[in-house]
Parts: sequence; C-alpha cells; structure tokens
Amino acid sequence: MTTLDRQPLRLRPIAALRGELTVPGDKSISHRALICNALARGEARVTNLLESADCLSTMACLERWGVQFEREQGATIVRSPGLDRFHAPAGTLDCGNSGTTMRLLAGIAATLPFSSTLDGDDSLRRRPMDRVLEPLAQMGAATDGADGGRLAPIVVGGQPEGLRPFRGRLSVASGQLKSALIFAALRATAESNIEEVGPSRDHTERMLGAMGAQIDTNGAKVRVQPGAALRPRDVDVPGDISAAAFWMVAAAIVPDSDLTLPAVGINPTRAGIIDALRAMGADLTLEHEREVSGEPIADLRVRYAPLRGFEASGDLVVRALDEWPVIAVAAALADGPTTIRDAEELRVKESDRIAATAAMLRALGAEVEERPDGLRIAGGATLRGGVVESRGDHRIAMAAAVAAMIAEGETELRGGESVAISYPEFWRDLERLRDAAAA
Ligand code: S3P
Repeated sequence: MTTLDRQPLRLRPIAALRGELTVPGDKSISHRALICNALARGEARVTNLLESADCLSTMACLERWGVQFEREQGATIVRSPGLDRFHAPAGTLDCGNSGTTMRLLAGIAATLPFSSTLDGDDSLRRRPMDRVLEPLAQMGAATDGADGGRLAPIVVGGQPEGLRPFRGRLSVASGQLKSALIFAALRATAESNIEEVGPSRDHTERMLGAMGAQIDTNGAKVRVQPGAALRPRDVDVPGDISAAAFWMVAAAIVPDSDLTLPAVGINPTRAGIIDALRAMGADLTLEHEREVSGEPIADLRVRYAPLRGFEASGDLVVRALDEWPVIAVAAALADGPTTIRDAEELRVKESDRIAATAAMLRALGAEVEERPDGLRIAGGATLRGGVVESRGDHRIAMAAAVAAMIAEGETELRGGESVAISYPEFWRDLERLRDAAAA
C-alpha cells in the first residue's frame, strides 16, 4: 500500500443511484470454498471468488499446510493433497485482519498431528479467541494463546488418540465458532452435537453436506457424524449481501434512486438487512430468485422511499450481523428513533462497532446514544460533512461513505483503504455510480 492510498478521502453527496451494479463474491462463502475444498483430496474450481485481503490471508495460510491454488480463466483452482497429507507449516500462519481465517483454521489445526501457530494484525490480536480454543481443548486438542489463552497468537494441534466429540451449547451465536467445531467434529471419535444460542450463518453446513459430510441441522442444533470421505466440489460464489448492504441503504436514502444488484446471496441466516430495511418501510424487491452452489440468490432492486425508525433485537441482530453500521446510517435519517439491542458482539468485531458507529454518525451531525449492547439513534437527522476515522474497520469506512452521499458539504474519511479487507473495488464502484448519475 502506498502513502497515497492512506491519504484521507474527500467524499461529496451523490445525485441518485440508478441502473445496475454487480457486487463482489460473498466473503464468508469464499473462505469456505477454499477451506472446505482444502479438506478433500483433489481439485475444485471456484468462480466469482472474492479476492480481498481476508480471503488472500486464508489462501496464504492453507498454502503453508500444502494446499495449492492456481488462477485459470476467471476461476481459482484449489488443489489439495487431502487433510491427511497436510504438512507441518514452517513459521506462523498469518491471518492478517481476518477473524474467519483464524477461527475456522483453528478448528482444522485441532485435527492435525502437529501444532500450528496462527497470528494476525493488531486488530485481530485484540479479538477473543478463547471462545474457539476452550471447546477445542475440551475435545482434546492442545491449545495455547497469549494472555492465558484468550488472544492471538494462538497455537493449536491435535492429539494421537483423536478428538473427543463436542456435545454442548455455545455461549455466542457465531458462524466462525460453529464452523471451527464442525471441522474438528468431522475428525472426532464419535458424533458431535453443537447447540447455538441462536442460528448463525450456515454456509459451512451447506457446503460440507454437498461434499459428502453427514451433517444434520435442526434450528440452532447441528449434529456432525465423523468419518465421511469428502469429495471436492466446484463452487460458484454468490454476490455478497454484506457488500450489497451498502448500496441497498444508499439507494434507500438517496432521493430518486432505483438500483438493481444482480445475483446476491439471500441465505436466510444472512438476509437480515432485507427484513431490517423492510421494517423501516424501504421499497425493496427480490427478483429472479434461484439457487447457485446450494445457496439461494436473487436480484435485489431498491428504490428510494422515506424510512421510519424501528426496533431491532434477538435473531435479527445475528442475521444482519455485519450490517449494523450501515443500517445505523439509514436509522439516523429515518423518521423516529431506532433502537438496536442484543448486539454486544459488535464490540469485538474488526473494531468496537458500537463505539465506532456512534462516533461516525455523531461526526456527521446525528444524535446517537451508545448502550452496552447496542445503540439508540434519534432519527430525523440532517447530516452534514465532517471528519470520520474508520478505525481500520472496512465496514465503518463503507458505512461512512454511504452517510457522506446524503450529508451536506464534504466528508473527510480517514482509513478508507481498509475497504480492501472485503471489497477492494468499493471506491471504483462508487465512482461508476457517480458517473452514471452525472450522465
Ligand atoms: C463470519 C461470521 C461472523 C461475521 C464475520 C464472518 C463467518 O463473525 O461477523 O464477518 O464467515 O463465519 P462471528 O462468527 O464472530 O459472529
């Protein structure tokens, strides 16, 4: 990254968002297409893979265990020797900024006959890893981590007698934690039963099931039968609803907008943004609903409409987990207050997203009250340009860019280069929409 990339960005309002925009491949599914195929011996072809910093971290870590990747005519080929032939890595597996990489790979490291050390950047080193290490240790894995096993760097290895099954309830609804335990459970000595407090994203279960694993889901309970031989599987990655969310909110708040986002994933465990925007009165339609690679997708069409405040809590918080910073932008402009509860997990994302979202909105003139488990946003704000710091968090940077579209005057955004974590083309896509609006 050059110094120029780190210059603050100056963002101006936009006239209207119209036409079509294709968002990049889903980040969660991209990680899983790489990781699940790494478990199976052979070759798989992944198309529309998100090549963002986080997914590149996953590829670099898997390479250290002996998996190979090759780019070929718009696809990525995953070539794996199979889990039994992974080799001890030389040095540390660098997960960068990616919690998904570290937590999912911890589950795989727990099944290997050698130990692996996983580390990450300053943000990742602050995020809780005990939630994964403790249940893996209960299964018999050898685990260690900084600060008494709570933080990265972490060290994880299996044990010669194999892992015990996991049978218990997890304290947080987390797709990362659940996936790590599923990977470990595939290699346990008997059936595992994993119960969540609420259903988190289920991409791992869907993909492994299609590869031959015996996994049954019943609400927030997952049963994993070990021992099935996995077959490699080609994956066509759907568009990322968590990337689409920025444009969905943008089109909902900028007058005269009418924007279509083709082929976006609408997996019910991820589609909370659709329910949240509808609860606010947004004009949002799903067109051409269909399925790719075992995941439901649709073309999303969003037209400007006045929004009203709403109350969010419980399962909706998990189903729109990564979308709260940008939903908060819509809430600031809506008629009436919005309350977001049960969202304490947002404090341990790439930044403390409750604090970062409140600071971002206040910098642009909104009235926001920060609460331990969420936010109360007054609504009815007239946003005006200000100075926003992304705190190195890609989703805060993109939410600020959406707020700037409707703020009077100019917004200065610091740390805008962080979009590379999940959406490297974000600024270019914004320029494309701006050019289309001017034409
Ligand atoms: C993810 C799960 C969520 C989400 C993250 C991606 C995944 O994290 O916030 O962006 O791919 O499994 P948690 O599992 O920590 O809730």
